[in-house]
This record gives sequence, C-alpha cells and structure tokens, in this order.
Amino acid sequence: MAVEKPPVEEEIDPGKVAGTELRVLRYPHPALRAPNRVVNTDEFDDQLKKLAREMFLVMYASRGVGLAAPQVGVNKRLMVFNPESNERAFLKEVVLVNPHIVATSKKTLVEAEACLSFPGMQGDVRRHEWVKVEAQRLNGKKFRVKYEGWVAKIFQHEYDHLDGVVYIDKIETEEEKEKVQARLNELVRDFEKDGAEGQVAAL
Ligand code: CO
Repeated sequence: MAVEKPPVEEEIDPGKVAGTELRVLRYPHPALRAPNRVVNTDEFDDQLKKLAREMFLVMYASRGVGLAAPQVGVNKRLMVFNPESNERAFLKEVVLVNPHIVATSKKTLVEAEACLSFPGMQGDVRRHEWVKVEAQRLNGKKFRVKYEGWVAKIFQHEYDHLDGVVYIDKIETEEEKEKVQARLNELVRDFEKDGAEGQVAAL
C-alpha cells in the first residue's frame, strides 16, 4: 500500500472578500485619518470603475450600506453606497466621486449609527435631515442631487470619512461617549496586536 500524502491544509483568511484584495480597515488605522485627495480629470478610467466595483463587493460582504475609499486604504474622494445593502438591488447603487455639499436643512435629527471600521458598536449622531450635493459620476459627468432621510444620513456619514472624520468624533453626550469607550479601547488593543496588515473585515 502506497503512503498517502497528507491533505493540504490552506489557511483561511477571514478578511478576504472574493473578487478583491481590498478589505475594510478598522479603527485606529491611520488611513481613516489621512487626507483624501480629489480624483483628477485623467483618473476617470477603468481603474476607478474597478475600485468602485470592488468597494461594493467589500461593502456587501460586510453587510454595510456605504463605504468610503479611505476605509479600504485608498485616500481619494470617492464613496459608494446602497441604501438597501443588497447586491440584488443593484439599481440602488450610488457612486459619488469628488462630492461636496452645497446646501443643508436647518433641521437635524439624532439617530444611532454604526460603521464598518468600528465593528461591534454604535452611537448617536446628529445629522441634517436633507443635503444637496454636487458630485461626479464614474464617467466624470457632474450632477446635483438632494438626499433626504436615510440616504442623507448615509451620505453624511461617508462624506465625513472623506474629510478624515469618523462618527465617534460627533457623538455629543458624555453618556454616549462613555458607552463606546470600552469597545474603542478593545479596537485599539486589537490593532496594536495585529498591526495594520493583519486586519480583517467586519463580517
Ligand atoms: Co463609516
């Protein structure tokens, strides 16, 4: 009887998302705080489309509704979102390049938010009820749009990422801040242990 070769055991990488090398970077990864530069006119190419497509893959795998480029370590002013968080509802997919806010409602609302870069926690954040936005599509065309309600909230959260701002910066009450502090300390400990390279996506 021939000696059988032992089966090959492959390491499973829990942060790996099929179809992309991108993964969600977790707090306190420095990419979340780094400056994000404008996408130049000559960058509206297949590479940018590929980035947006792969960001959706990561977002859906992480069960998120939105993702900003710095969260996958790309410090450019680009965000993707899908208010239905479902790849079958692809018609709801939105990609915004170089977005900026041109008007906001006076009225604000305080509601709970979470972020893929801060798994396992949430906090109350004040947001405008609506925002008017100018942005570019993946083909470079400029457009204007008004977002209201749930979509306005998603947009404002992702927009903050493009300015290096994360939602914990906007938690207003001391009580709320205290609630999230223990989890933030854990995330810092994990980051120091695993290092920037050993990060896994929020799944
Ligand atoms: Co976020």
